Amino acid sequence: MTVGVHVQTVYILNGPNLNLLGKRQPEIYGHETLADVETRCLQITDAAGLTLKFLQSNAEYQLIDWIHEAREEAVGIIINPAAYTHTSVALLDALKTCEMPIFEVHISNVHQRESFRHHSYVSLAATGVIAGCGTQGYELALHRLLRLVQG
Ligand code: DQA
Repeated sequence: MTVGVHVQTVYILNGPNLNLLGKRQPEIYGHETLADVETRCLQITDAAGLTLKFLQSNAEYQLIDWIHEAREEAVGIIINPAAYTHTSVALLDALKTCEMPIFEVHISNVHQRESFRHHSYVSLAATGVIAGCGTQGYELALHRLLRLVQG
């Protein structure tokens, strides 16, 4: 019988329309694709010896199901909930069931934009929030998460 080594897993979840990153309003969100972001995040988790699950969905229920999965399997969550940030009590409730560091990332500076983007339900469950750092925000969140889980 082989005894498996438990590898720590980080979930990075992306909400609606982020599949179009690079094509969608590049003046706000930049020219990089979500695949580019995943590649850079993978370099960080590989170097740290962690497994990365990098996921995107346009469906709220799917994001909730992944949070439930992360609850059992992950050491931390980074989430860009996109427009669900500002609407979803369901995502907040799901995140509230997770006892681990949670980072909320926004590519744009939501506080500089329309007033409906100034409020976040998800922030009530977040350990930290990064906004306005472009796609680099994912890496910044990842470094902070690694510091918290690996010391
Ligand atoms: C976003 C900001 C949200 O207000 C918006 O709905 C998005 C992306 C960001 O990354 O800046 O889709 O979360």
